[in-house]
Amino acid sequence: MQIFEEIEPIRAYLDDQRRKGKSIGLVPTMGALHQGHLSLIGASKGENDLTVGTIYVNPTQFNNSTDLAKYPRSLEADIAQLTQAGCEVLFKPSNEVMYGKTDNSLKFDFGQLDKVLEGKFRPGHFSGVALVVSKLFNIIQPHRAYFGQKDYQQFLVISRLVEELKFPLQLKSIPISRETSGLALSSRNQRLSEEGRAKALLLVKSLRFTRDELLNGQNINDVRKEIQARFDGTPGAKLEYLELADRNTLEALQHGEKESAVILIAGFVDDVRLIDNMLL
Ligand code: PAF
Repeated sequence: MQIFEEIEPIRAYLDDQRRKGKSIGLVPTMGALHQGHLSLIGASKGENDLTVGTIYVNPTQFNNSTDLAKYPRSLEADIAQLTQAGCEVLFKPSNEVMYGKTDNSLKFDFGQLDKVLEGKFRPGHFSGVALVVSKLFNIIQPHRAYFGQKDYQQFLVISRLVEELKFPLQLKSIPISRETSGLALSSRNQRLSEEGRAKALLLVKSLRFTRDELLNGQNINDVRKEIQARFDGTPGAKLEYLELADRNTLEALQHGEKESAVILIAGFVDDVRLIDNMLL
């Protein structure tokens, strides 16, 4: 795997590859890689001649400096996993390379799309994501870019970004990877104890319960009361939101219309913030 840390050398290398007719797949990550990331690499390898993985913990998408400081980092293990997965190129820039001397004041506003759910609890988060993803799209100029469905809202925001800024690339959303227990894979799981991992199953169990109740005709407000009680009864667990929303606009829904709705949940388990979602 070729590793680049600066913009000009990777641009020159990829320009050359494009001239040779090679298609390029981009898998942006913040490192602390797990099987979910590797499934994105696998998807990219299946559809492109060259896969570029990126590892960059982007400060502008963290609205909380403690969360940024505690974000897991495991560069050596990440490089070993990417190499083994057959990723051909890694871009791992520094803050200096990505932001230079700018004051990070460039902001994005996606209207309602980035004000609800994650956007409500993490103000500015999606502006930071859009900023760094735009930079990566401009630097790598991929034919296709791969993102995990676990960050459901992020994918919709990036889709709007691509549409508005006319990035000439195809976006791909890859299904959530789960442990056999059902726990959605997340870099943040690394911060959970064994007991914490067991408690974190509350998220996927809540999604399954909500899905079944909604399909039985219940409305989300009634189901949320039950889920809130389950979180309240679990020491160290805190529910931030449980919402039923339109799959494309994230507009809140009361009742589940099969095939047009998604259930989204976020909560804390022992101070670790986790998210998950399930299509109805
Ligand atoms: O999903 C992530 O890991 C990050 O939000 C991304 C897309 C790499 C941007 O920093």
